[in-house]
Amino acid sequence: MTNRKPLISGNWKMHHNHFEAIQMVQKLSYLLSANDYDAVDVSVHPPFTDLRSVQTVLESDGIPVALGAQHCHWEERGAFTGEVSPAMLAKLNVSLVVVGHSERRELFGETDDDVKRKVEAILAAGMTPIMCCGETLEEREAGQARAKVERQVVAGLAGLKAPQVAGLVVAYEPIWAIGTGQTATPEDAQEMCGAIRSVVRSRWGVEAADSIRIQYGGSVKPVNAPDLMRQSDIDGALVGGASLDADEFARIIAYRLVG
Ligand code: PGA
Repeated sequence: MTNRKPLISGNWKMHHNHFEAIQMVQKLSYLLSANDYDAVDVSVHPPFTDLRSVQTVLESDGIPVALGAQHCHWEERGAFTGEVSPAMLAKLNVSLVVVGHSERRELFGETDDDVKRKVEAILAAGMTPIMCCGETLEEREAGQARAKVERQVVAGLAGLKAPQVAGLVVAYEPIWAIGTGQTATPEDAQEMCGAIRSVVRSRWGVEAADSIRIQYGGSVKPVNAPDLMRQSDIDGALVGGASLDADEFARIIAYRLVG
């Protein structure tokens, strides 16, 4: 196993206008220490309208938090009303883009093929995708969780070369755990993240499997983060609700200081 640096990402979804976003990152930087940044990579994923403001604060104050986006189109430009291209995000020094979040798949009809195209476009623009996957409660109860997630990973990363896969982030987010307060047990989350790493190993080889970072997402809170993060195949967290509050998010980032 290589030493994968954990990545803790705050997915703000459709929360915080640009004023609130500025306050949020300033407060977060006040709460985090050099030790935190040494131990953990941190990213925030504000709405598009906040990106420029957050970029300016991070850069002018020298805050080592990575700027992320929640979504993008795969084309570089064109007649796609309402969409934003990977090149536009890269121009704002966005380095990580969430792709295939279950809310995008379920509410906005994103398909595995869309996810694949976006993953390629994000990589081509020099950024890193955080590719989300996860099963519904019905799929879990029917014993299909593993097959569903493996299929999403293979479909979303299809066509990539091993070195590209090695640098990626995959977020395992069981849909029944998102925003519900119902977290997967550390053992269940580990089992699924382990399954994702195995499928990467069988398709792209040992090096890619050892390097790819796999996050868990779904009701991650300060109280459950330490046990989740202790699992051998969990390399970080994609945090929704609890990332909206700087104190709570900082406590998740400091998970290693608990227990
Ligand atoms: P949650 O969201 O932490 O509010 O459950 C996680 C996510 O959707 O990324």
